[in-house]
Amino acid sequence: MIHNNIDFNKKTILITGGAGFIGSNLAFYFQENYPDSHVVVFDCFRSEAAFANGNLQSFGHYNNLIGFTGDVVCGNINSKADLALLDDYKFDYVFHQAAISDTRVYDQEIVMRTNVNSFYDLLAKAKDDDAVMVYASSAATYGNLPSPQTVGKENPENPYGFSKYMMEQIAYRFSDENPDMTIVGLKFFNVYGRREYYKAKTSSMVIQLGHQILSGNTPKLFEGSDQFLRDFINIEDVVQANIKACNPKQNGTYNVGTGNPRSFQDISDILQQELNTDLGTEYIPNPYDGYQMHTQADISTSKTNLGFNPIVSLEEGIKDYIPEIRRLHGTDIS
Ligand SMILES: NC(=O)c1ccc[n+]([C@@H]2O[C@H](COP(=O)([O-])OP(=O)(O)OC[C@H]3O[C@@H](n4cnc5c(N)ncnc54)[C@H](O)[C@@H]3O)[C@@H](O)[C@H]2O)c1
Repeated sequence: MIHNNIDFNKKTILITGGAGFIGSNLAFYFQENYPDSHVVVFDCFRSEAAFANGNLQSFGHYNNLIGFTGDVVCGNINSKADLALLDDYKFDYVFHQAAISDTRVYDQEIVMRTNVNSFYDLLAKAKDDDAVMVYASSAATYGNLPSPQTVGKENPENPYGFSKYMMEQIAYRFSDENPDMTIVGLKFFNVYGRREYYKAKTSSMVIQLGHQILSGNTPKLFEGSDQFLRDFINIEDVVQANIKACNPKQNGTYNVGTGNPRSFQDISDILQQELNTDLGTEYIPNPYDGYQMHTQADISTSKTNLGFNPIVSLEEGIKDYIPEIRRLHGTDIS
């Protein structure tokens, strides 16, 4: 589905983090709908290096780009020499998705270096090229503030959330200093859908519970899971938000959620219905302090200033995703 009337054919489009979940979906959106667009994916891809929490340091995976016919530049956004590999291009649009996306990395130096320092370089590149900048922020900027989460009232409670919060402050200032530029930050809530598998333990509960169920295991949820409500948003609607952000009424930061929070129990129940299982639920203690109990995006300004209109319900999103969840079940994640 085409999300606005911009003709991206003949446009040169940079997608940092384009081997990851959201970035690769954007790459295919352009390839499928605008065959004459020139898409450049910049991503460090995954190495074998892991953080102290045991998760890989980056989740970009070539399998997310099988069938992609644009350019791929392997590079690290922390390296000025790697970023200089982009000097040969003049971009019309920059979609900056590359980041340490794992919210449970507590090494503040690496999170800030990766998520924040590189942003200055990419904003400068967008300015030089006269490109539109759409960048990924996060609902993690809100920490545990009560719902509905509203742009302008942030209180990050981990290094990741703080790094995204700082990106927003940098973007506001850069936007003031460069009023002719289009700069839009998108605060994604809990995204799920195709091409998230290689995020492993940081992928959504939709695919993780789906695979537990397909293995014949009773889905494990934290005690009180019917009370934990989150704003789950399908990747189709996240792509829609990115595309609509290219032509905003106003620069700024916008929430990308449905505004309609659902429980983890709902996800488990919908999956069991779609997979025709009756495995019940196993409740386990929640080991996390500061666990977000309730998220609900206030999307009023996203609607008015971007024209964003999420259309995929949790029921529809999971139903459409089932064949992909089945296909990936048990496949090698390395
Ligand atoms: N998926 C979600 O639910 C969600 C929610 C809020 C915000 N976000 C943000 O959206 C963006 C995309 O998230 P995603 O879910 O696709 O995550 P992802 O981890 O799949 O994608 C991030 C990509 O960035 C690449 N990357 C990481 N460090 C890099 C570096 N130093 N140099 C170059 N590339 C690097 C990774 O290889 C990966 O391909 C991220 O900025 C993330 O913080 C995602």
